Amino acid sequence: MTELLKSKLLDSIRSYFEPTDEKIANAYLQDLGLTWDFLKDKSILDIGAGSGGFAHAAKRRGVEIIPLDEDPQWWKTRGMFYKHVPYVQGTAFHLPFLDESFDLIISREAVEYMVFPKVNEDKRMSLQEIRDGIERNFRQLLPEVLRVLRPNGEFRFDIGVWGWALYTTEESSLQALEKEKSDPEFRKQRAEKIAQRSLEFLQSIYPHITMHTPPDETGDDRKNYFRMIKSCTVLY
Ligand SMILES: C[S@@+](CC[C@H](N)C(=O)[O-])C[C@H]1O[C@@H](n2cnc3c(N)ncnc32)[C@H](O)[C@@H]1O
Repeated sequence: MTELLKSKLLDSIRSYFEPTDEKIANAYLQDLGLTWDFLKDKSILDIGAGSGGFAHAAKRRGVEIIPLDEDPQWWKTRGMFYKHVPYVQGTAFHLPFLDESFDLIISREAVEYMVFPKVNEDKRMSLQEIRDGIERNFRQLLPEVLRVLRPNGEFRFDIGVWGWALYTTEESSLQALEKEKSDPEFRKQRAEKIAQRSLEFLQSIYPHITMHTPPDETGDDRKNYFRMIKSCTVLY
């Protein structure tokens, strides 16, 4: 057995026995390019926290994270067993915290749900209406996040795969989705275009947002995360 195969096998055995909150924590660290060292001694809010698993795994390492979610269903099925971690029910659009409360606000695989416009079942929305709704909601979300961030604080988030496709035109077509399955080079170029457009979209709302690629072990070339630093001169 080659060394690579051996280490992959060991990884999957380890991951099978790993507690769920540790798996969630690893996904957060990987997707948002975070390290435990970076998180130490910061006051941190996780918006759209799901079960709160990241906060629970963090507590074990002396890192304090407050999980917030508008719908506590994941917490009810899994997270309520996570002891010693507070859980806040609330929406990211009206955060129940005082101004300048946090050094860091994180959000993993949740912002795309927050900003996706509520779909009225009686009426089909056009792609343009969906994009307009996403932009409107982003413009509402960001000032609220900035309000509770301390000066020089940071919002770090990803916007998910299907969220990205909505910010583009030809890349979101069904033909493109089909073609990328059999054409890795096309898939790579499409992912790069989508990432660039996503960044342009976000920067049109807040020019200081930057895009970063985490160390990628899975080969999923679409995953990027975004950083927004609250500069002292921003008025909101
Ligand atoms: C796919 S889950 C991600 C959970 C967690 N971040 C993780 O990575 O395991 C998305 C979460 O976002 C939450 N969410 C959606 N809209 C929200 C809003 N406006 N305010 C707070 N949470 C919201 C949902 O309730 C859901 O728990």
